[in-house]
Amino acid sequence: MGTPFITFLEPSKLEGYMSKAARENQPSAIPKAFLDAMEVREQVFVEEQGVAAENEFDSDDSRSCHWVVYASVNKTEELEIRDESGAVIRPRKSSTRSVPVGTIRLVPFPHDPHPVDGGEYWDGKLKGEEDKVTGPTGPQKPYITDRPTKYHDGKEPYVKLGRLAVVKEFRGHRLAGLLVKTVLSWLKANPAFFNPSIKEIGLENMGAFNERDIPIWKGLVCVHAQEQVQGLWAKWGFQLDDGMGTWMEEGMPHVGMFQRLEVNSDQIRI
Ligand SMILES: CC(C)(COP(=O)(O)OP(=O)(O)OC[C@H]1O[C@@H](n2cnc3c(N)ncnc32)[C@H](O)[C@@H]1OP(=O)(O)O)[C@@H](O)C(=O)NCCC(=O)NCCS
Repeated sequence: MGTPFITFLEPSKLEGYMSKAARENQPSAIPKAFLDAMEVREQVFVEEQGVAAENEFDSDDSRSCHWVVYASVNKTEELEIRDESGAVIRPRKSSTRSVPVGTIRLVPFPHDPHPVDGGEYWDGKLKGEEDKVTGPTGPQKPYITDRPTKYHDGKEPYVKLGRLAVVKEFRGHRLAGLLVKTVLSWLKANPAFFNPSIKEIGLENMGAFNERDIPIWKGLVCVHAQEQVQGLWAKWGFQLDDGMGTWMEEGMPHVGMFQRLEVNSDQIRI
């Protein structure tokens, strides 16, 4: 594997994206990096882990930042041909191309409430409450007061890492570590990226009455980790929040973990 490189995709309209459709049939406006991210996610979560294909893409994808890591792969285009004496009459022809092998996404605040301890979620919905409307619907998620947990007071804005996946044949090369560290460095360099703009959203839609109440990101990062890779997230600085409990997402046990980054962010976006 050659030196991997990473592409960044900022939040983008993904209108018309069709789960389960081949990439050549997707609308031309869908960014290539997103199609690459989905190619990895489908290989890992859908084919390997058995997540339903229609649940892999969700409403957080368009408002998230995505990173995709690519590896250079050598492919034999034409085999070598030798004559009867063994002399090469046509050498092997090969080409190198970059293939997407890993991805991660970063979901901005606000979020749905923390999952219910012991709850079972499919496609982001709690079993037994699939039809329940939990708040205003529309493109803008509501700013809510959540239940407090060990590391989250229920109010502080946090960003959420997720959909971390590396294609099976490329595991063990620290590509997941590279992705996570890239995102954490990006967050430190861009702490105000997700802070809401007063003009675009309006104070009332931020649950704020004056400038002091405007939600500002102060470095809190969450992950809903598959329980089997909790140790891996711990290596990257995340701590288990046992106040969040354990719940099932797409049939797999998950736990909540948090990390606080040192950031300098008190910029309000007008
Ligand atoms: C989890 C996953 C992304 C790791 O990818 P990877 O590129 O192989 O990970 P890295 O090489 O960066 O591994 C980092 C470290 O974690 C260790 N590690 C890898 N997989 C692990 C696992 N399942 N459990 C515990 N530790 C693990 C590695 O040995 C490595 O340790 P080291 O730094 O001491 O050598 C990959 O196995 C994957 O896609 N799994 C399926 C999807 C998944 O579970 N995603 C996580 C959702 S929360």
